[in-house]
Amino acid sequence: MIRCISCDAKYDDDEIIYTCKECGSILEVIQTPSVSKEVFSNRKNTMWKYKEFLPVNSDKRVSLEEGATPFCKCDKIGKELGVDLYVKVEGSNPTGSFKDRGMSVGVTKAMELGVNMVGCASTGNTSASLAAYAARAGLKCIVLLPSGKVALGKLAQAMFHGAKVLGINGNFDEALETVTQLALDGELYLLNSINPYRLEGQKTIGFEIVDDLGWQSPDRIILPVGNAGNISAIWKGIKEFNQAGFIDDIPMMTGIQAVNAAPIANAIKQGKTEVTPVKDPDTIATAIRIGAPVSSTKAMRAIQESNGTAETVTDDEILDAQKYLARTEGIGVEPASAASIAGLKKLVENGEIDKNERVVCIVTGHLLKDPNTAIEACTQPTEIDSDAEAIKKILKTL
Ligand code: F0G
Repeated sequence: MIRCISCDAKYDDDEIIYTCKECGSILEVIQTPSVSKEVFSNRKNTMWKYKEFLPVNSDKRVSLEEGATPFCKCDKIGKELGVDLYVKVEGSNPTGSFKDRGMSVGVTKAMELGVNMVGCASTGNTSASLAAYAARAGLKCIVLLPSGKVALGKLAQAMFHGAKVLGINGNFDEALETVTQLALDGELYLLNSINPYRLEGQKTIGFEIVDDLGWQSPDRIILPVGNAGNISAIWKGIKEFNQAGFIDDIPMMTGIQAVNAAPIANAIKQGKTEVTPVKDPDTIATAIRIGAPVSSTKAMRAIQESNGTAETVTDDEILDAQKYLARTEGIGVEPASAASIAGLKKLVENGEIDKNERVVCIVTGHLLKDPNTAIEACTQPTEIDSDAEAIKKILKTL
């Protein structure tokens, strides 16, 4: 069943609907699985091992075996910052971002509904993922991207998997408005995170964190926030495992935004309950260059109900954190993902995170998604003859 998060109106599972007909608010899927956690342990390690919690027919799933991503204990950074740190590496999903979890459920739902055209607006990763899953399902796919503001790897993926790619003169928020109109006009099935089935897939990040920690909740989960679907999804997953009795505690949900694209963090910092959109959002972390997050109500609830917080970081802090994670722990992530590490550092420095907290930072997309930013952040290779003696001289300088 689908339910409005504001007025509680209910809708059938087979209705194609994105916002409440009564009050216009966003929707969520509800189901009440009754299962013991022991059933998960003997299953193949993909996100579908939690299939009782996924509201589609898992026998007919459109899947690339997403999920079960690395959960790396990061003692070097953890020690430096005085926390017990784990990093959940979502760049290890099939197309290199957490979106694959959402698309697997979302495209499976599209098949159940019998649609033939799917679409989305995207800062890049959503389009890359949808293009791949649409290809696997044999569906037509159209994606609207803010022209000139999508990282190269993501653009390559969307095009290569055969989606119709349109570069929109405008930002992500404008592209989302247009694609939503197309969906409401019945032209396509919308697979942005306003579609509540997308978030059903992404809540498995929360499941895996709990499972990875031996059926315990961390003290805190930190992640980058753009359109605010993922923080809402993970919180939903955590609450479902809490309600199922699998965990007693819950983590403080902590969202990080780029300082010039921070409507949610601004609202939290100012103690407001309403989120005011940011007009011309900007950041080098193009994935989270979003001014009017569609799931802001859900995200605000996640932060408030969990006693969490939100913080802003600058582009320089993001780039420093990206390099720090890559060079200290060997984990390569795209700029938006590094916002979680930059945010952790800032919150520790501000004294908002207690020493010895058990913290999980989610890094959302792979380094190779945005090769240009990575290359620009480095000294270029030294040109030299293939001569051992000459190279020995360089070795001495290292
Ligand atoms: N990190 C990465 C790498 C992303 O691609 C996104 C969102 C986020 C974080 C933020 O997640 O929107 O759920 O709060 N990317 C979307 C896209 C908007 O179109 O690929 P969110």
